[in-house]
Amino acid sequence: MEWRSNPIAKWTVRTADGRLSLMSSSLGTLFRISTWGESHGGGVGVVVDGCPPRVPITLDEIQFELDRRRPGQSSIVTQRKESDTVEILSGVLDGLTLGTPISMMVRNEDQRSRDYDEMKDKYRPSHADYAYDEKYGIRAWSGGGRSSARETIGRVAAGALAKKVLASLGVEIVGYVEKVHSLRADIDPRTVTMSDVEANIVRCPDQKAAEQMLEHIEAIRKAGNSVGGVIGCVARGVPAGWGEPVFDKLEADLGKAILSLPACKGFEIGGGFGMTDLTGLQANDEFEADDAGIVSTRTNFSGGIQGGISNGMPIVVRAAFKPTATIMMEQHTIASDHSNTTIKGRGRHDPCVLPRAVPMVEAMVALVLVDHALRQRSLQHFMGQ
Ligand SMILES: Cc1cc2nc3c(=O)[nH]c(=O)nc-3n(C[C@H](O)[C@H](O)[C@H](O)COP(=O)(O)O)c2cc1C
Repeated sequence: MEWRSNPIAKWTVRTADGRLSLMSSSLGTLFRISTWGESHGGGVGVVVDGCPPRVPITLDEIQFELDRRRPGQSSIVTQRKESDTVEILSGVLDGLTLGTPISMMVRNEDQRSRDYDEMKDKYRPSHADYAYDEKYGIRAWSGGGRSSARETIGRVAAGALAKKVLASLGVEIVGYVEKVHSLRADIDPRTVTMSDVEANIVRCPDQKAAEQMLEHIEAIRKAGNSVGGVIGCVARGVPAGWGEPVFDKLEADLGKAILSLPACKGFEIGGGFGMTDLTGLQANDEFEADDAGIVSTRTNFSGGIQGGISNGMPIVVRAAFKPTATIMMEQHTIASDHSNTTIKGRGRHDPCVLPRAVPMVEAMVALVLVDHALRQRSLQHFMGQ
């Protein structure tokens, strides 16, 4: 292709404000994160810009979230051996944020590039290999490069910080596995707790369903296959008023953030697609006020957001994750010269991405909410509140 010999000709694209735009690895308006790094490069990390000063944060609090996402944490996740030890390079002094850019990084320790030799010239079905090659004309083939779930380390580290800011505003975020393949759990987002979620390695707070899910994932792993499922996430304590009315609707920003996670193929808010089975009489969230004038709704099909703005009810979202692309079974594909061939996965992969994706979904919810919290604060400042 001609542009491969002159990539700048293809890539000189200017945004409305005149910046040169090559690719986007950033998210957020006031609380802005930029992630960096490839799976088999030196390491991965994040720069957080716009975090308020004097937020108390410890390495242990960030490490706690990273350990929930870490490979090798149980028998049903990839066995890549990474300690994922986080280092804070800037922006924090004596356990308090400085208000300056916060840079965090994790060094890659356990690359086994030989497992990917075949993938140098062949495209894994449903992975990012083909699309990256078509877009850039080059790809970090080893370990999946930037399309690897290792990229999410930066998101989870930044999410830990966002959670701390939100906790000071009374907001609590809990993610949980709701469905694995066709096995569904019964979870009440109003009451689910992080300790129930962390009580088993599947991260499903319905302990009975978790046992069945565990057995199923073990069997799928032994067969060299993979399965997907659904992660739910609730944010409790969000006051009414966060979010914007049109393009930056709170659910639109949540949807974008969550769908940007690797392997995520679906997003729902509140009643979601299920509401299409209901009538208005059934689906409308009727308002009521208690004696103190505190407003709530009798049901929460809106998932805590109406008109793009939070209404004070718990924000409830759902994310669908597909079965892991790399499986230990032979499938049809093409080589980089577009000849037909077959491929069989090698190396260490997650038979089901769900247990490790729970902290990632929580992080994305936290990052969107903290950004909108700061936006609402600045609006209130101008309104003199
Ligand atoms: C927690 C987590 C772990 C993952 N582990 C693997 C893996 O071991 N092998 C793999 O092929 N894909 C894995 N993925 C998914 C790929 O990164 C993803 O499917 C790929 O980049 C293609 O992007 P897409 O599925 O969003 O289209 C994982 C995703 C998540 C969220």
